[in-house]
Amino acid sequence: MIEFKDLNICGKRVLIREDLNVPISNDKVSSDARIIAALPTIEYACAAGAKLMVMSHLGRPEEGKPAISQPGMSLAPVARRIEALSSLKVRLVDDYLGGFEWGSEDLVLFENIRVNEGERRNDPELAKKLAALCDVFVMDAFATAHRAQASTTGVARFAPVACAGFLLTAELAALGKALANPAHPIVVIVGGSKVSTKFKALDALAGKADSLIVGGAIANTFLAATGINVGKSQFDPNLLKTAAGLLSRVNIPVPTDVVVATDMTDASDAVIKAVADIDETDMVLDIGPETSRTIGKLIADAATIIWNGPVGVFEMPQFAAGTRELALSIAGNEGFSLAGGGDTLAAIDQFGIRDKVSYISTGGGAFLEFVEGKTLPAVAMLEACARK
Ligand code: 3PG
Repeated sequence: MIEFKDLNICGKRVLIREDLNVPISNDKVSSDARIIAALPTIEYACAAGAKLMVMSHLGRPEEGKPAISQPGMSLAPVARRIEALSSLKVRLVDDYLGGFEWGSEDLVLFENIRVNEGERRNDPELAKKLAALCDVFVMDAFATAHRAQASTTGVARFAPVACAGFLLTAELAALGKALANPAHPIVVIVGGSKVSTKFKALDALAGKADSLIVGGAIANTFLAATGINVGKSQFDPNLLKTAAGLLSRVNIPVPTDVVVATDMTDASDAVIKAVADIDETDMVLDIGPETSRTIGKLIADAATIIWNGPVGVFEMPQFAAGTRELALSIAGNEGFSLAGGGDTLAAIDQFGIRDKVSYISTGGGAFLEFVEGKTLPAVAMLEACARK
């Protein structure tokens, strides 16, 4: 890939694709990890004298309808957060495809790129319009590099120059280091609720990891595969055989105790139970303290840790202990630790361990696809552009 740092961009029109898809509540950014990660590329471009445009998607809006008319889909709170985190003056522009007037801003932020017709299906006409706006296209959105869309791969095809930004390059290098030749023992933690997607990653990781720690609905699927009744808990009955196969291939410390409740609300009563005592009416919402200790020992001895997904519903205090203990164990390990995914970033912030993790990936789906060994479409496109 052509690297951004190797280009002279002074006076040039530079269009950067970032992933500024951050959680927003009450019109405010509630976790700014992805914005902070994007800033080095943005600030470098400003300092180097580029005429700077930044684009990103936010959520999954309807195409063809203005972002502002769709609740929670405008990048306005993100524009404000970029200004608060940097000394840059940001102008949010919603009509840019045919060109726009430059003002005294440091950068123009395009309103939610996903409202453009054809973005998701990678329409070449949309990609050409984006490409026509710039002299240099910089793909920096690692967390969207698994999507072949007009603003990620299409624009690169038609732009005069397409290169990789600092975040994309750093993500690929760190993930490559962690996964190519990692020091053993390797402990991989996969939690969260997207069971079927994550099982594919587990399968790929079973060959590399010395231990796989599972949490959330994924752990419930493993419990069910060992014959444990998981009550009303979320699990995938279609993956029981796969789970049993994985258990025979790699060390997976299936939970021995859990935190359950009969419903999942802020007022739910949390009860710690041995897994054999889970009732029909119970939902497993966190791992128990005994399981946390078992996991903590594995993590303490690990040379490499890869973490994606919480082990419980950590947003609710009564189900947060498992993920908190996990986060603190990872923070206390002196080996190489790598964490990624939207919920994982939020957990890292909630438990204040940001500076204790060797590398924090902004990617969720992209992180897992990289871990699975897939080539990310945006990376393949940048490589093809460099060969042109
Ligand atoms: C993510 O949050 O994983 C990325 O921003 C990609 O979002 P998407 O799954 O809506 O494409």
